Amino acid sequence: MTSQRRLISRLVKRNIKPSNVPTISIENVAEEIIGTDYNKIESFHHYFNNDNNIHRQHDHHFLKKHLFQCEISCPIQDELIKGKDCKIIDLGCGPSTFLLDLSAQHPNSRFFGVDIETTFPSEIKPKNLEFKLVDIIQGLPFPDNAFDLVHIESTLFTIPSVHVNFIISEMIRICKPNGYIEFCESIYNQKSRGIGEKFGKLLHGFELVSNLYETDMHIALNLPKMLSMIPNIKNINLEDQTIIVGKNGGKVGVIMHDILTWFKNSSEFFVNDICKQLNLTKEQYDQLIVDAFNELNVTFSEMIFRRIYVQKSGC
Ligand SMILES: C[S@@+](CC[C@H](N)C(=O)[O-])C[C@H]1O[C@@H](n2cnc3c(N)ncnc32)[C@H](O)[C@@H]1O
Repeated sequence: MTSQRRLISRLVKRNIKPSNVPTISIENVAEEIIGTDYNKIESFHHYFNNDNNIHRQHDHHFLKKHLFQCEISCPIQDELIKGKDCKIIDLGCGPSTFLLDLSAQHPNSRFFGVDIETTFPSEIKPKNLEFKLVDIIQGLPFPDNAFDLVHIESTLFTIPSVHVNFIISEMIRICKPNGYIEFCESIYNQKSRGIGEKFGKLLHGFELVSNLYETDMHIALNLPKMLSMIPNIKNINLEDQTIIVGKNGGKVGVIMHDILTWFKNSSEFFVNDICKQLNLTKEQYDQLIVDAFNELNVTFSEMIFRRIYVQKSGC
């Protein structure tokens, strides 16, 4: 084990913030934001923020809101509706559809988004919403017990697995006693029910690329067990919504089919990596995409959205 991993493992056990991460007051979150050149970043998370795909992340949010019939599943929703002053943070917020939606509806509460890339809007946004560039793997630069809800969505599956426990411990640290921590991740793999051969192959390639970056594409399946082993949280709740991707899944299936065309529009890095992993030429990969997306219109390929929320124990 490297010394950095040993340090992280000790901090996770004691739930202590790493000393090399400065703490900022949440009154002072905004800072000068420097733009990101997506084509120059060679890392797994970069695959998702390519400019061609931002509107797909917006669609993804509204699709999940429709399926769960709410933006968040934990009971903080009731406090927001009553107009209470809550503090909510989203980690790996991306273009921030989740926060833009909630902050516009709840002006009495304050919302914060952090991401390692600047896809979030720095100017046109509600006044009660602030952003900060943060690499969550390094720790969260916020005080203990600061937020009523710490939220993370479709982000843990892009993080190398070795850091996930530490990030969860940081989420617990910055959450208020009896506050909530909510996760949302998707379950789709080549063994899903109703899946066809071509789309299965595409997902297999995605899993191989994910292994290359040592991330856990199946984090949604593993999270409940991981959370059940953490001492300072209580009340683990899990909700799944299953859809069929493609025409056989009705309007929801057609929208998800479009969101997944991300595979067609993703970065050069991703295409190179997946071609290498599947031993395909670029032309063969393009053909696989065409076949897989045609196939999705006749198969009954299942995909599951999973929300899990837990409560931090009262201190
Ligand atoms: C698939 S996107 C999801 C974005 C958003 N949560 C959503 O549901 O639309 C994953 C996000 O996690 C961010 N991310 C990945 N690794 C990160 C890290 N180490 N620190 C901060 N953000 C990170 C990426 O930049 C990206 O915006």
